[in-house]
Amino acid sequence: MTDLIERLRAIVSDKGLILDEDGKHPYLTDWRETYLGKALAIVRPATTEEVAAVVKLCAAEKVAIVPQGGNTGMMGGGTPHEDGHEIVLSLNRMNRILDIDTIGYTMTVEAGVILKTIQETAAQHDRLFPLSLGAEGSCTIGGNLSTNAGGVQVLHYGNARQLVLGIEVVTPQGEVWNGLRALKKDNTGYDLRDLYLGAEGTLGIITKAVLKLWPKPKDVATAWIAVPSPEAAVELLSGAHAASEDNVTSCELMARQGIDFVLDHVPGSTDPLQEKYDWYVLLEWSSTRARRPGANETGLAEKMEAYLGEAMEKGLVLDAALAQNESQARAFWAIRENHSEGQKREGPSIKHDISVSVSRIADFMAEGLAAMKKALPDCRPVVFGHVGDGNLHFNCQSPPGWNKTQFMAYHHAISGAVYDLVVGHGGSISAEHGIGRLKVEDLAHYRSKVEIDTMRTIKRALDPQNLMNPGKILQV
Ligand code: FAD
Ligand code: MLT
Ligand code: ZN
Repeated sequence: MTDLIERLRAIVSDKGLILDEDGKHPYLTDWRETYLGKALAIVRPATTEEVAAVVKLCAAEKVAIVPQGGNTGMMGGGTPHEDGHEIVLSLNRMNRILDIDTIGYTMTVEAGVILKTIQETAAQHDRLFPLSLGAEGSCTIGGNLSTNAGGVQVLHYGNARQLVLGIEVVTPQGEVWNGLRALKKDNTGYDLRDLYLGAEGTLGIITKAVLKLWPKPKDVATAWIAVPSPEAAVELLSGAHAASEDNVTSCELMARQGIDFVLDHVPGSTDPLQEKYDWYVLLEWSSTRARRPGANETGLAEKMEAYLGEAMEKGLVLDAALAQNESQARAFWAIRENHSEGQKREGPSIKHDISVSVSRIADFMAEGLAAMKKALPDCRPVVFGHVGDGNLHFNCQSPPGWNKTQFMAYHHAISGAVYDLVVGHGGSISAEHGIGRLKVEDLAHYRSKVEIDTMRTIKRALDPQNLMNPGKILQV
């Protein structure tokens, strides 16, 4: 073992190696603190060549590797196992923006760049990188691509898979595949890029990416809206597509329970409306068409106000606050984005990151809430999420005062009931967070034998020694 550590040190130097237990700790547990693993070392290469050399050494020594970006994943995919035989390979030193091409609307980055840095760099060049999620201040683009992350603008721009043109990957053998092509059209055999996207580090390590950029929106309208029901939210969204001239960029649904947790636990949060309601929508429209100062034309805010007025007359809206400026819009967004934090501080929760088609949301929701309550009558449903693309965080908080062990005794009953319904509605048991370690059994249960066998065949072919993030997504 000393020999392995010294050989790792020779590749990444002292700066790239963490061996002391205090220094290792943040890399050994996940954001939700569901897992606490052990590792031989935390290895932090600074270049693709160093990643390749580390992987080659580990392949020769049969040491398994857990790739890690910002460690904000929800499924335990970036956390090592408890046996301590793996290394964690963190990409957090590979954090350079390599190129920005404003003519071709692309940006080339290393895998460890923080998502927010990418958004800010694009904005400085009057461009938009539209991936946006609550963890954007700490998650990395390599993690985003490896989980095929979703977030709050998927309904307009797509998820991470749709936002990338090319990637560079270090294979489980330590070879470098340079697929950094900035091409919109490229039909040259099997799509290797798509294979690695969403693979959660089980097939190789993403080291660089060419990302797509969009024009930066110049006119944005944001509203915090109380609605009578999830059905009303879906109808409101449906009409908004045409009313906004196809400019709906976010549509997030929230139940009161999650908002209360944010107001209770996240200092500085304030309720945008005076009255309390059961359901809320955060609606955002964005357009690249700038409003000319003094010109007598209708901007998105006026259009949205008119649309919400009509919707109120139809009973689809109970009350609404339209953001008067950017800081008010940011305050609305903070309440939405702090839902995970509020839930975490409230105590134990069971998360269901599910999707059904948008038109099935209302039916699923009614049945799902009843199923959760049947499994544990005192549980507290916390439903929120990306209703605009059919993805709900259909979460469940423990009854007040319960500890984790008490609550987790109901995990299978609650999740089984929810997932059976999701699958019955033609939906997915993991919409955007992936499988990681937490849903390995669920994936095997809910997907067909042919699908699992095909995935296993791919995994065995690319990683015959099973050293690349073993035990995540699939047992091989
Ligand atoms: P990590 O957590 O470090 O890793 C995630 C997985 O990818 C692991 O399996 C890891 O092994 C693998 N991996 C990481 N980097 C690489 C690499 N370079 N090459 C190969 N494999 C790699 N997710 C959403 O989709 N939408 C949301 O709206 C959303 N909101 C969130 C809000 C909060 C508050 C938090 C804490 C999380 C949220 N997430 C959301 C989950 C999480 O932020 C995303 O999954 C994110 O993409 C993970 O990025 P990361 O860099 O933290 O990856
Ligand atoms: C979010 O959309 O805020 C996260 O993906 C949700 C979660 O914590 O379940
Ligand atoms: Zn989400």
